[in-house]
Amino acid sequence: MTGRVEGKVVLVTGAANGIGRAAALVLAREGAKIVAADLQDERGEGLLRELRAGGCECEYTHHDVTREEDWQSVVAGIKARFGRLDVLVNNAGIGLSGAVVDMAFADWKRQVAVNLDGVFLGVKYSLPLMRASGGGSIINVSSIAGIKASPNVSGYCATKGGVRLFTKSVALECAAAKDGVRVNSLHPGITETAIWDTLIGTVEDGSNGGRERGPTLDKFTERAVPLGYKATPEDIANGILWLASDESRYVTGTELVIDGGRSI
Ligand code: NAI
Repeated sequence: MTGRVEGKVVLVTGAANGIGRAAALVLAREGAKIVAADLQDERGEGLLRELRAGGCECEYTHHDVTREEDWQSVVAGIKARFGRLDVLVNNAGIGLSGAVVDMAFADWKRQVAVNLDGVFLGVKYSLPLMRASGGGSIINVSSIAGIKASPNVSGYCATKGGVRLFTKSVALECAAAKDGVRVNSLHPGITETAIWDTLIGTVEDGSNGGRERGPTLDKFTERAVPLGYKATPEDIANGILWLASDESRYVTGTELVIDGGRSI
């Protein structure tokens, strides 16, 4: 019995927590070799131990998605160790909230750097190795905030909307090049992770309350999400798995929405 992504070499950014961590574990369970990358080394090393305990061939690397030199070295490292790259999960992201007039320019730029520059750099530096590997799948984790606006989160919406159309443009480039690389965006809805600690006041009544994200976010979700409950990181990771696998071989330039109906 082989896994759904057996033997594929996968790079996951922002892998130490939340959705990235779940994606690394789900992909490993289905036979992938994992390169997990993040800023939070202690959490990353913990993930590595868990992956190894499950028999996964894997490594963890400290990696800031906003730094061009980090991308150059992580891709060079993958080439040296594995000789190929089949899947890139551009997952690292931050969410900062506040009314546009109150938002510090530095915070705007930090979101652009992580959420948009990071995705651009990931595609730019991974694509040559993926093409040399005979094809692959790039999964850019956007958000329903890249499709549907919410108040007090304009910077986040701008970056996630940018990821959505950047993805489609690159998908066309790859299709025209006939390089076998598929490029898709994935749009999670409300998924309880640490990102909600900084997305304060982004729900319509401004009451999600940051660190009280548990009960207050639950209440908001009941009202705002047709299915009435939040996603788990694994719900999102299952979509990443499908886009990473050859089951989605005819899928490129699409936007996979996993949001319990929130954006309908
Ligand atoms: P999280 O906060 O649990 O995980 C984000 C990870 O990204 C952390 O491990 C963090 O260390 C890492 N990271 C942050 N800046 C980085 C940088 N410069 N370089 C490398 N790594 C960096 O949050 P979550 O929810 O797991 O977020 C993953 C992705 O999912 C993000 O792109 C986020 O925007 C997106 N998303 C999340 C939703 C949610 O409700 N949790 C909804 C829609 C999208």
